Amino acid sequence: MKNVRLDSPPNLALHAQAVYQQAVVTRIMPMNNATQITDAEREVIKQWFEGGAKTD
Ligand code: HEM
Repeated sequence: MKNVRLDSPPNLALHAQAVYQQAVVTRIMPMNNATQITDAEREVIKQWFEGGAKTD
């Protein structure tokens, strides 16, 4: 909706900070937890971001 696309490594790299904010810090995404993400999965995103958000 906000022209944020996460469907390729370069797109994900571009929005890494926003993904961290939305999925780990505020936990607003996924919206209404539509995909039933687990705390363990959020932790994986946290580790990924804190490790430098590598996409290659
Ligand atoms: C882990 C999975 C997801 C991630 C990492 C993610 C990430 C994001 C990000 C970074 C934004 C931009 C937020 C901003 O900058 O204001 C966003 C917006 C949005 N996402 Fe997600 N998203 C996820 C799952 C979902 C799912 C499953 C849905 C729908 C069921 C969804 C619907 C939306 C909508 C509608 C917006 C626009 C919200 C607005 O206008 O503020 N997302 N998402």
